[in-house]
Amino acid sequence: MLHNCDPYYRVIPYAITDSTKQDLLEIAHAPGAFVDISYKISFFKLPSKLQRFNNTGLDCVCQLLRVNEPDSVIHKDRNRHNEYEGTYMPRQTVISFPLTDNSGETCFYDEQKNIVAKVDYNGYGAILNTGEQFHNVNFSIHNNTRIVFQLCFENMYHEVIDIYNEKLVGTMI
Ligand SMILES: [Fe+2]
Repeated sequence: MLHNCDPYYRVIPYAITDSTKQDLLEIAHAPGAFVDISYKISFFKLPSKLQRFNNTGLDCVCQLLRVNEPDSVIHKDRNRHNEYEGTYMPRQTVISFPLTDNSGETCFYDEQKNIVAKVDYNGYGAILNTGEQFHNVNFSIHNNTRIVFQLCFENMYHEVIDIYNEKLVGTMI
């Protein structure tokens, strides 16, 4: 199941403990925890509440994303400041771990928005090239809500792969 599809994604072993997963899901399930600006992929409104989960020692920012409707917009992510509290949110490259069991494929597209790769990393994690490559989430109305925890980096995709290999392999969050 571990496999690479550079420069779009790499599947990596799951690295969230049961205890952390329960804590994150409790935070995620609070009323009004998520907001959707336009992508049909909602983000956690107040990410400052999540930063204590970064035990990696790395320069990255924690975020939760939620999908619960089809037809998310094909997009590239941009580094930006959170609209509600100003937390800087790099989005060049992310390391993503599902917190929910359901399926939800991440699809990647070329510059003409033709699909070129897709990955369902349930039970695993994935390094995703969110800043350089068009992508969205393939979600059907029959799927249950999908929530992922992400470490968000300003570094380019190939740099995050090096960071992962040198400093994160074996680390549990
Ligand atoms: Fe994205």
